[in-house]
Amino acid sequence: MGITGGIAAYKIPGLVRLIKKAGCEIEIILTEAAKNFVAPMTLETLSGRKIWTENNFDFNIPHVNLTQWANVFVIAPCTANTLAKIAHGISDNLLTSAVIASTCPLLIFPAMNENMYANKATQENIKILSERGIKVINPAEGELACGVSGKGRMNEPEEILLEIFRALYPVHDLVNKKVLITAGPTHEYLDPVRFISNPSTGKMGAAMARAAWYRGAEVKIISGPVNFNFNSYGFEVIKIKSALEMLEAVKKNLSWADFIVKAAAVGDYRAKNFSPQKIKREGKNDLVIELSQNPDISAEVGKLKRENQILIGFAAETQNISENAREKLARKNLDYILANDVSEKNSGFAVDTNTVKLIPKDINKTEKIFSGLKDDIACEIWDNVISL
Ligand SMILES: Cc1cc2nc3c(=O)[nH]c(=O)nc-3n(C[C@H](O)[C@H](O)[C@H](O)COP(=O)(O)O)c2cc1C
Repeated sequence: MGITGGIAAYKIPGLVRLIKKAGCEIEIILTEAAKNFVAPMTLETLSGRKIWTENNFDFNIPHVNLTQWANVFVIAPCTANTLAKIAHGISDNLLTSAVIASTCPLLIFPAMNENMYANKATQENIKILSERGIKVINPAEGELACGVSGKGRMNEPEEILLEIFRALYPVHDLVNKKVLITAGPTHEYLDPVRFISNPSTGKMGAAMARAAWYRGAEVKIISGPVNFNFNSYGFEVIKIKSALEMLEAVKKNLSWADFIVKAAAVGDYRAKNFSPQKIKREGKNDLVIELSQNPDISAEVGKLKRENQILIGFAAETQNISENAREKLARKNLDYILANDVSEKNSGFAVDTNTVKLIPKDINKTEKIFSGLKDDIACEIWDNVISL
């Protein structure tokens, strides 16, 4: 890791802790300016290693040896100055010399005042680096140390850690592919304070999204109300509540996608007459609510999708799992269906594990059963779908 002289360097000790906790080893190079923002002794204590600086290296030729040792080289925060130097091959300090000697993937996290970031020189330098295959991660928008709000904030340590995992992921076979995923339950409101829903937590959809993102895909997730935060990942998250809102969001994003994964548990019914006022309990021992059927989003996508778009659906079933799943696969024009016995223990809703059967449209392709953690299953699903 290289740390340069930006104010965001104060967050890096937190990142070093996360990296160590994840089981990685880390060597750190500090520029002279960075020493003003983060104490070498803090970093030494947290990394368990000596910190490399201009006047603190032995005869190890660190700029060469360190970069041969590393699996990934991260510069965070990266100043406008260091960004410019790297773009132009300048190697006038230990960090920039290490960059030019390195052969592993390089991840750059720029952080600076919004005008510095928007400056044509900075933008042209980013373009040069990106065209060279170097990953320059967009800074966030928000409050900046200089007191204004704008684009230039360094990504949070959790986000940087995930980008590191992404760079280290062993396969990147979804680079330049766009994956649209639906996840979670829907809430079908009866009145302003009550809704019909189901126990979906969005975990399977999130696992599919993470696995695709690690493989290099651009990911958009259309999510019903769930309790976890997708935001540390570089996904675009579109939040919806009802099945009708989900359908609208899916239609809007459909042409963008190469793969569509329908992992949401969409409500089949909604209130026929939504009550704009809270339904009162007084005077009603029994309450009858009429429901109308919601549109079938997978089937709509099946009708609208282009020839080369791959549609993957999940079928939550409690009986005749394979037969019901095959029937859905054909009726909805899916390319793959994952049949999911939600009545089994440790499978389906609200747990971290699952058992699913992957059934391809093409009957000559073999069906496969995956069982285990949803994250592991998601990797296996992508392995199979991509290889098929
Ligand atoms: C208080 C202060 C804060 C700074 N913050 C930033 C910053 O966030 N981003 C940036 O690009 N430069 C920032 N700079 C300017 C850099 O420190 C300066 O360009 C320096 O030469 C960078 O050297 P380096 O790239 O070798 O670390 C700041 C300077 C000062 C005095």
